[in-house]
Amino acid sequence: MKKTFSFPKNFKWGVATAAHQIEGNNIHSDWWHWEQTPGRVKNNERSGLACDHWARVNEDIQLMKNLHIKQYRFSVEWARIETAQGVWNEEALKHYKEELALLRAAGIEPMVTLHHFTLPFWVAELGGFEWHGFAEAFAKYTEVVYEAIGTQVIDWITFNEPMVLFAASYIAGVFPPQKKGSLQSLQVPMVNLLKAHAKAYQILHARAKQASVQARVGVAHHLRIFDPACAYHPLDLLMAKISEDFFNWTIPQALRTGQLQFYVPFLLSMNVSIPDLAGTQDYFGFNYYSRDFVKFSFRPPFFKIKVPATAPKNDLDWEIYPEGLNRLLLEIHDRYPDLSISITENGIADAKDSQRIKFLNDHLWQMAEAMKAGVPVEGYSHWSLLDNFEWNSGFSPRFGLYELDYVTMKRIARPSALVYAKIVVENQLLTGQETRS
Ligand code: GAL
Repeated sequence: MKKTFSFPKNFKWGVATAAHQIEGNNIHSDWWHWEQTPGRVKNNERSGLACDHWARVNEDIQLMKNLHIKQYRFSVEWARIETAQGVWNEEALKHYKEELALLRAAGIEPMVTLHHFTLPFWVAELGGFEWHGFAEAFAKYTEVVYEAIGTQVIDWITFNEPMVLFAASYIAGVFPPQKKGSLQSLQVPMVNLLKAHAKAYQILHARAKQASVQARVGVAHHLRIFDPACAYHPLDLLMAKISEDFFNWTIPQALRTGQLQFYVPFLLSMNVSIPDLAGTQDYFGFNYYSRDFVKFSFRPPFFKIKVPATAPKNDLDWEIYPEGLNRLLLEIHDRYPDLSISITENGIADAKDSQRIKFLNDHLWQMAEAMKAGVPVEGYSHWSLLDNFEWNSGFSPRFGLYELDYVTMKRIARPSALVYAKIVVENQLLTGQETRS
C-alpha cells in the first residue's frame, strides 16, 4: 500500500555548508597553516581554492534555487573577518552582507554558524580553545558580525559539533592543534567554548532586541547512536551508556543547567559552573550521520568503537543507520520537550550517488515517523549542497547533491539532487518507486 506523509507548510527544507570547506583561500585560519605540513590531510591535499565558492556565490545560490530550498545553513569565517587581533576586514563583512541579500532575494532564509571548526591563526597561536581570553575574543567577533549582518539573520548557531571538534583536536589528534590527550583534557576547551557560547547568546539577543528583530540561538550538536557491541555484555552496555551520556548529552545538559558536569570513577570528573549559560538554547540543532558499537576494553579509556562487517556503509565506512535518526529525535523530545528541533546536517559520502537516494528517503521517513509521534521537527538541512573539502579526509569523500569537477569547478547535479528537489517542492514523502526498507 502506498503511504504518504505531508510536511507542515512552513517546514524548513535546507542544505548545509561550512566556510573553510567551500570558500577557498582561507589563509588566515589555523587549518590553512596546519594543512601545509604533509601527512596531515589524506593524500597530502590542502583546502586551497576549495570549491571557489567565495567567487561563485551567485552560481551556488542558483543551485539552491534549483533545489527550491527554504533555508541555507552556512558559516561565516572568523579568520577572514578578524585577520589579526582587533583587525577587522570590512571587505569580508561586505561580502557576507551581499550574500545575505542575495539569499533573501531568492526567498531563502539564512541559518548562520559563527564557528565551524576553524579558528583565526592568531587565536590558535594564543592557545585556541585553551586560551583564557577565548570567550572574550569570541564575544567581540560576535558583536562585529551582528553589527554587519545581524538584522538579516534570525537563526544562529554559535558552534558546530563541539564534541567532534574536541575529540578530533585533543584526543585523536587528527585536527589542529593535534593533541593526543585524555578525556579529562577536554575540560578546559569545553569550559571556554561554553563561556563563549553564553556570551554570544546574550549579545545576539540583546542586539536583536535593540533592533526590534527576532533572534534564535542554538548549537549544531553532533549526536550519534551508541549501541553495545554485545547486547548482553554488562560492560559493553555500561560503556555504551557512558559514551552516549558524555558525547551526546554533556553539552546540551550544560546549556540547560549552566553546569558542565560529568563523573565516572577513574575516567572523568567535571563539575564547573558557567555564568549566564543556563537556558541558552532556543531550539535543538543536531547533525546526524551514524552509529557506533561500543566494546569494553581493559585499557583506558576502557572502550573501543566497532562497525559490524555486514552493516551497510558509506564511502568513509560509516554505518548507514536511518533508524538512528528516529531514535534520537524521540530521545531529544523526551529530554527537552519545550524545544523545537532542527536537523542541521545529515548526509552521505557517496561518490557514485548509488546510495544517496535511498539514504535520503530512509532518513526522511524516519524523521516523518517521529513527527507523526508528535516530535516538533522544524527543519532538515542536507549535508551538503556540493562536494567539498572534508577536513583531514581531503577532497575524496563526496557528500554533495551537486558533484564538483575540481579541475573546471563545474557543478553537476547528481540524480539525488533532483529527488531532493522533488521532495522539497511537493513537501511530502510518497512510498512507491522509492526505497524505504
Ligand atoms: C560533520 C561536519 C561537517 C562535515 C560533515 C561530513 O561532522 O560538521 O563539516 O564535514 O560532518 O563529514
